[in-house]
Amino acid sequence: MTTKSQAVLNWIDERFPLTSSIKGHLTEYYAPKNFNFWYFFGSLALMVLVIQILTGIFLVMHYKPDASLNAAGVPVAFASVEYIMREVPGGWLIRYLHSTGASAFFIVVYLHMFRGLLYGSYRKPRELIWIFGTLIFLVLMAEAFMGYLLPWGQMSFWGAQVIVNLFSAIPVIGPDLSLVIRGDFVVSDATLNRFFSFHVIAVPLVLIGLVAAHIIALHEVGSNNPDGVEIKKKKDANGIPLDGIPFHPYYTVKDIVGVVAFLFFFSAVVFFAPEGGGYFLEFNNFIPADPLKTPPHIAPVWYFTPFYSILRAVTYPLFGLDAKFWGVVAMGASVVIIAFLPWLDRSPVKSIRYKGPIFKIAVAIFVVCFFILGYLGVLPPTPGRTLVSQICSVLYFAFFLLMPWYSKLDKCKAEPERVNFK
Ligand code: HEM
Repeated sequence: MTTKSQAVLNWIDERFPLTSSIKGHLTEYYAPKNFNFWYFFGSLALMVLVIQILTGIFLVMHYKPDASLNAAGVPVAFASVEYIMREVPGGWLIRYLHSTGASAFFIVVYLHMFRGLLYGSYRKPRELIWIFGTLIFLVLMAEAFMGYLLPWGQMSFWGAQVIVNLFSAIPVIGPDLSLVIRGDFVVSDATLNRFFSFHVIAVPLVLIGLVAAHIIALHEVGSNNPDGVEIKKKKDANGIPLDGIPFHPYYTVKDIVGVVAFLFFFSAVVFFAPEGGGYFLEFNNFIPADPLKTPPHIAPVWYFTPFYSILRAVTYPLFGLDAKFWGVVAMGASVVIIAFLPWLDRSPVKSIRYKGPIFKIAVAIFVVCFFILGYLGVLPPTPGRTLVSQICSVLYFAFFLLMPWYSKLDKCKAEPERVNFK
């Protein structure tokens, strides 16, 4: 570095922790040397968050949250999305990047969470990273739900109608709560305006804050790894973990490989199949919202369907409260229970590599059930499908609730002293 640029850097460092932050979070943040491809999904989630914010900024320049009808009898909000698609230069690309980005976000976050499950990354001392993660997941669901109303298509309208109505099942406060959420007695212009406000500013702010807290907590305790070995336990004379390597340049460069692979698949969808076969953008949403015409089958977007299936699986009233109420409770519990994993898993080892057969079978059953629930949530219910989703819902909860018992019972292998790296 020239003396001049060094002088500038010194001037900044005396006023702002620039060099020390770069050292603490990048060049002298020691990450385990055995990260595998599962560790790409954290940085990919960050990248998708940036894509969503950038494309969102440009969409807001042309989108209009207005449910009134224009001269052609089309809702202004719906027409403004069509305007973006057909008239705004590059508008179609920005919109497809944003809509595909929503599904990509959930794919990446589901894989990121699954990695945590595989390697026990939620275990002590990473409980707070996991709790922040679960909160991120909840907030992300709210963000996606509110964003889906904005194009004001048939699915936007009727999906919001179904989900907001669920809140009215809560005893005492339910009816008033759903009124506050909608801002009206039906989903209307008032709902569109408040969902727009939440989607573009309030929820993204919370999301960014939670992601910052997530990464600060991670850098406080250090990363886990596929062996579940704490690298901080074995350090050299300079206090550097023996199995650690500086995050920059090693993982910044490695993560670029993940980014390239991701962009390959992502752009293939954006350019060749932006509707994702009706899963990423539902076909009914290309029809303007019509409060007088209910579509024959209303299904949420794919990333909500496992939880939606759990909601629909509850068909019995209990303690004088109707099935809808217990369905909402079950759906809420199915997300919240994820936050409790750090205290449910009592296994002596962290990583699935050293866990016994019971845990491996339990994870396999859990994954199969999650996929079946997701698939059934897209379809209209029949008695047979309801029975299957009831069985899968019971197994979903059993995976968590029985974990304190079966994780202790399991025959685990001894964890190695140092990480495995070939
Ligand atoms: C916007 C969403 C999210 C972003 C941007 C994000 C970002 C990150 C990043 C950059 C890392 C470090 C790199 C890595 O280990 O892959 C990380 C680690 C981690 N994340 Fe997330 N995350 C998100 C959501 C979640 C969710 C929903 C959960 C779980 C409920 C979660 C749980 C974890 C855990 C446990 C770690 C530590 C992993 C380890 O050390 O093995 N994250 N996250």
